[in-house]
Amino acid sequence: MTVQYQAHFVSSESIIARQLVTNGYAVVDNYLPGGQFRTLREEMVQVWQSGCFRHAGVGRGENRELQPTIRNDKVLWLEPMACSPAQRRYLATLENLRLKLNQELLLGLFNFEGHMAVYPPGARYQRHLDQFRDMGTRRVSAVLYLNENWTMNDGGALRLYLDNDKLGSYQDIYPYAGRLVTFLSDRFYHEVLPAGRERYSITGWFRQRDDMLAD
Ligand code: OGA
Ligand code: MN
Repeated sequence: MTVQYQAHFVSSESIIARQLVTNGYAVVDNYLPGGQFRTLREEMVQVWQSGCFRHAGVGRGENRELQPTIRNDKVLWLEPMACSPAQRRYLATLENLRLKLNQELLLGLFNFEGHMAVYPPGARYQRHLDQFRDMGTRRVSAVLYLNENWTMNDGGALRLYLDNDKLGSYQDIYPYAGRLVTFLSDRFYHEVLPAGRERYSITGWFRQRDDMLAD
């Protein structure tokens, strides 16, 4: 009897969709090709050094407040009309993911909003949910890490609480270069632990339209 082996390519979009269905979150490494990753990272370092970032807030619109004890990272929102080619390419990659998630999870994701974030050494973001109290439009959170040569000793893990009633049940996900973490925004409390180095990411949310909310 002969066994035939067939090369089988499973896209990272399929893997993410499957893990989101099974676990509610997904961790995928090397999400972007090396060249794309490097350009995105180099650009982000440049923009950060040019001083354009501002203190991240908590809440939105009129309710937005600076609460440096809750979070003290600095962010710069991605404006689709003002994005660099590398950023636009990343947004196009996420657009494919959005379509796949709509196919597989029937979430009716409508668009993506995101920002670059830098956590200076010692900065953190305390335990929170990625939804605003008065709005349920964020359905899937997606964080891409842009840190070269990161090790566990650098700290800065994303701590994802797997069970809201058990603080001891969590997964620490380190912000390694090119890693993409996605999770259902309304399901997981999480926090960003302090790091010994500057920690770079592009963080964003796939959103549902306000008028499509189930609740
Ligand atoms: C956030 C957040 C996680 C991370 O910005 O809301 O939780 O690992 N970020 O940077
Ligand atoms: Mn968050």
